[in-house]
Amino acid sequence: MRTPVSGPHSGAALGPTAAELLEFVRRTAADTDLIAALPLDPDGRTWIRLDGPGGSEAWLIGWPPGTGTGWHDHADSLGAFSTAAGTLKEQSLAVRLPTDGWKTLELAEGVDRSRQLSAGQGRAFGRHHVHEVLNESDTEHAVSVHAYYPPLPQIRRYSRTGAVLRLEHVERPEDWQ
Ligand SMILES: [Fe+2]
Repeated sequence: MRTPVSGPHSGAALGPTAAELLEFVRRTAADTDLIAALPLDPDGRTWIRLDGPGGSEAWLIGWPPGTGTGWHDHADSLGAFSTAAGTLKEQSLAVRLPTDGWKTLELAEGVDRSRQLSAGQGRAFGRHHVHEVLNESDTEHAVSVHAYYPPLPQIRRYSRTGAVLRLEHVERPEDWQ
């Protein structure tokens, strides 16, 4: 386990950078024994909690065909994820939204981004990154590795109708335990 050090981090005084989280999720996604240990359930997502680097929170997640997260962000946590099996689609917003103080927000044209992440491909993201992750396959499970720092982030969940994003609720760590 590495010791967190101060340095040119993107915000937090201590803790891993997004690049370090990305390195971790890529390396972990390549651990075929670990990936094979995740139970897969056709009826819903499955999870195993992992020890992330530098005190980060990490998860191994199995995605049955057709499942997804819905639009959300991880508030003040930065993070990274990598596909380990199958293919995941990430839809995201290329703009930084106001953190608090709004219920609905109309997005300008041209802010949507979409990418396909097949096995071995990952991405890092900064604070307030709004996205949804989907397994659009009709037949194949996907498996991915995720890491967040600071750990146990808030999750803000949104509904989306066309260009309008609406804050639906805020999940806090106690909601998941
Ligand atoms: Fe997310």
